[in-house]
Amino acid sequence: MTISIITNHDNDPIPWVQSLKQVDPSLDIRIRPDDKKRADVTFALCWKQPDGVLKEYPNLECICSMGAGVDHLFNDPFFPEHLPVIRIIDPLLTRSMFEYICATALYLIRDIDRYTAQQRQSRWQVHRYATMKETTIGIMGLGKLGAYAAENLSRLGFTVRGWSNTLKHIKGVATYEADRLEPFLSGTDILVCLLPLTDQTRGLLNRTLFDHLPEGASLINVGRGAHLVEADLLAALDTGQLSRACLDVFSTEPLPADHPFWRHDRILVTPHCSSITDPDSVALQIVKNYRLMEKGAPLINQVDMARGY
Ligand code: GLV
Repeated sequence: MTISIITNHDNDPIPWVQSLKQVDPSLDIRIRPDDKKRADVTFALCWKQPDGVLKEYPNLECICSMGAGVDHLFNDPFFPEHLPVIRIIDPLLTRSMFEYICATALYLIRDIDRYTAQQRQSRWQVHRYATMKETTIGIMGLGKLGAYAAENLSRLGFTVRGWSNTLKHIKGVATYEADRLEPFLSGTDILVCLLPLTDQTRGLLNRTLFDHLPEGASLINVGRGAHLVEADLLAALDTGQLSRACLDVFSTEPLPADHPFWRHDRILVTPHCSSITDPDSVALQIVKNYRLMEKGAPLINQVDMARGY
């Protein structure tokens, strides 16, 4: 019984081996492509595996994402859909996402980009700002990450609303369900996308949606690049329908050097760093799931394949 780590350059597998071994030194862990006896591998720990490689493991019993999202697994047209898929749910990951949203929301309301530009010109000019309470943050997606961010942004003093597929109840947060997207958007000053990427949510951040926001609203995208129609964002920034965007995820990552987002003065680009899985923090849940899989017991944090998250 072997665990194989199958990942691309985004994720260094070595710290993962160390963290897993620290939890259980008896584990046999290999890193693809040096996992020659692929018939021994029952558990694959994956991040953006190359298309089709999972077919080389005839005895796989479980696939575990190395992050909170699982869409990167399903991009593979040969993904073995009959196998159970598990994902990471981790308090540190959840907290980091909240911290990134705080940082960018404050960056937006306190005009940090304008002051950075002014500093480059030695220009002393004060702008009026909205307080947290005067600012409504609207969070799309109230799963583990979204619900935590919503509740804690509200505690911090922002006015917060949330939109999700099924109605959620979160302390201090006005919640809207799927068919109330327009009323949700109409009072949102800063829209945060924390949705999972599915066929239903792909391309949802588009011109029609932006037109339902108040003029001059801002966008923080920490979901996936494919949620956003990039040309529609550029057009909305041009007309002033949107004032600014903070983007951490992109359709193509790394963002190509000639992409217009890099040089746009009202877009903040960060390199998919809002919330990075810490192998030390998640090793225990992975090992627990591996042992549950061996016993044929129900797994923790298993993905509902019909929903896609
Ligand atoms: C990061 O994008 C993740 O899915 O954890």
